[in-house]
Amino acid sequence: MKKFFINTYGCQMNVHESEKLAGILYKRGYIHARSNDDADIILLNTCCIRETAETRVLGNLGMIKKIKEKRPEVIVGICGCMPQKSGTADMLKKRCPFIDIIIGTYNMSKLDFYIDAVESGRKIVDIWENEQEMENVPIYRDSKFTAYVNIMYGCNNFCSYCIVPYVRGRERSRDFNDIVNEVRDLIEKGYKEITLLGQNVNSYKGGSPEFSKLLKALSNFDGEYRIKFMTSHPKDLTEDVVEVMASNDKIANYIHLPVQSGSDRILKLMNRKYTASEYIEKINMIRSYIPNVGISSDIMVGFPSETEDDYLRSEELVKKVRYNNLFTFIYSRRSGTVADKMNDQIDIKTKTDRIERLIKLQFDIGNELAKSFIGNTYRVLCEHINDGIGYGKSSCDKSISFNANANVLGEFVNVRITEVKNNKLIGVMI
Ligand code: 5AD
Ligand code: SF4
Repeated sequence: MKKFFINTYGCQMNVHESEKLAGILYKRGYIHARSNDDADIILLNTCCIRETAETRVLGNLGMIKKIKEKRPEVIVGICGCMPQKSGTADMLKKRCPFIDIIIGTYNMSKLDFYIDAVESGRKIVDIWENEQEMENVPIYRDSKFTAYVNIMYGCNNFCSYCIVPYVRGRERSRDFNDIVNEVRDLIEKGYKEITLLGQNVNSYKGGSPEFSKLLKALSNFDGEYRIKFMTSHPKDLTEDVVEVMASNDKIANYIHLPVQSGSDRILKLMNRKYTASEYIEKINMIRSYIPNVGISSDIMVGFPSETEDDYLRSEELVKKVRYNNLFTFIYSRRSGTVADKMNDQIDIKTKTDRIERLIKLQFDIGNELAKSFIGNTYRVLCEHINDGIGYGKSSCDKSISFNANANVLGEFVNVRITEVKNNKLIGVMI
């Protein structure tokens, strides 16, 4: 039997797209390989949101070239955001002539057809400009308990640093009933946590109250399960969504609300369309409805012209909000974006210094918060068990480990937090 290996870079969106690529390959009769080395087809599902992701792809292509030299019959395909970026497909074709398939974000559902073409001796470079979703393709999900479901694709926001609108196109929402049917089907199959995916879920079908209606419709099925969603743009998160979260057990008490910066001047340059104090008001509104809500965020350091004072505003905001989890990034230039053309790009030493300070600040806050959770009991979905230790998450997205036996795998259990090690919550099942 032929085998495939998919190398996935980037966010949940890409992870889920790889599950769809795997579905197409399974339908074709392929099975999972253990690594690139024993695969008959190797795919790289790429991300170009930051330079680091692109560098990793280029590094891995070096290793894959060696595999192709030893086994020329292996099919190598590169897909996703990176080839979709202007000029990159041509660069890849020149630099890595051993690649058989180069396709962008809009035509991944045609993988089957491209493999047929390669098997009949052709090389494929196909970067469509027309949006075509990976819909109605089989999906091979990595987990039996947690699942991703797309609710929309693309983004209209054009934050000045971000390449996503250029490589994933304008917002397109999926049909309401298609989403409801997919989620119902997953719950009937025993899935316990569904994460709805979109670059900006709060603008689903044009915005409030469509998204809260969708959340309500998804919380009417029988059995214990939870619905999470990401990502929310602070400017579009409306009170009706938070009300549904607060009044409905099946919607998780967790929200990922990226702020990007605490400086109003930088937020304006980023085209984020809110100020730091408007953001804090939203956080206060959410907490007034759901006091124990888990909130996470993304913050970028070193945006063009960011001064020490601007950076300190981000620190100030982090101290005020006290996030459960914070994803920190060094700004990287993306060609074609507005910020790439801005003067006063920040040097790497300053950027590194700022990110290190921010990580340290969040570590200390996370540690204080974690210690304050000792003694609390959380309902945890046990996602993995390794050597008698279960791992899972609470409704408010806290990662928790605990002593577990095999029969709780894929089940909800109550766990009381007993200790904190390296900011990690450890508990016992009760
Ligand atoms: N440089 C660094 N980080 C970026 N992000 C998006 N574009 C860039 C960039 N050019 C970060 C943002 C976003 C997250 C998914 O990636 O913080 O929320
Ligand atoms: Fe990029 Fe902004 Fe859209 Fe998020 S909201 S995908 S950061 S343009």
